[in-house]
Amino acid sequence: MAFVVPKTLKAGSMSLRCLTEHDSPALWDAISASRPLLRRRMRWVDAVQSIDDCSAFIARTQPAPEMTEFAVGVFEGRGRLSGVGALQHPAEDGQVAEFSLWIRVERRRRGKGFAAAKALINHFFRKAGVRRLYARLEPANPEARGLLRKLGFKYEGRLRREKRLNGRWVDQECWGLLRQEWKK
Ligand SMILES: CC(C)(COP(=O)(O)OP(=O)(O)OC[C@H]1O[C@@H](n2cnc3c(N)ncnc32)[C@H](O)[C@@H]1OP(=O)(O)O)[C@@H](O)C(=O)NCCC(=O)NCCS
Repeated sequence: MAFVVPKTLKAGSMSLRCLTEHDSPALWDAISASRPLLRRRMRWVDAVQSIDDCSAFIARTQPAPEMTEFAVGVFEGRGRLSGVGALQHPAEDGQVAEFSLWIRVERRRRGKGFAAAKALINHFFRKAGVRRLYARLEPANPEARGLLRKLGFKYEGRLRREKRLNGRWVDQECWGLLRQEWKK
């Protein structure tokens, strides 16, 4: 079953919506501006080397009946792209999914990540029938840990040497949030 995709979600002065082909240059700009810090945290960064790669990502995450990956752009006031939130690999008929989010470097630490995550999670728990979200992060990622904890995710354990990131095998912390725990 595919995700129930929102048209536009409001998060304070920001809005979250599906990316379109027209957003490829803005996505490329946001990734390029944040590349050194992003690649320390996320494995896909080195694979994005052009605007065409951004277009391919956007095409892959368009609403479709059998979609397994869903992404929204986080847009500020005048339509500036400040980050991307995503849900992936729906299992159990789309009721269990992996959550991730990144915010471009110069817009961090202003509450944007928390507000965007709240809007996205709220939609999926309240309107889209999702019952469990989970996230994984390497232990040396205090930003993500702080964000997940603030959102109410619970620590569920640690997978040792689970993922290859920048040429190293790193552990993965597992964090999970159930619909009945969601109180925001
Ligand atoms: C994680 C991330 C999305 C947070 O975005 P942000 O807009 O800076 O987050 P916010 O300003 O809304 O902060 C929310 C909470 O995150 C935590 N946090 C954010 N930056 C932090 C930092 N540098 N160090 C420690 N905690 C941090 C804090 O708990 C913060 O709450 P507080 O402001 O009440 O202290 C951003 O740092 C990012 O894009 N990181 C790289 C991608 C990544 O690791 N994503 C994984 C998310 S599942």
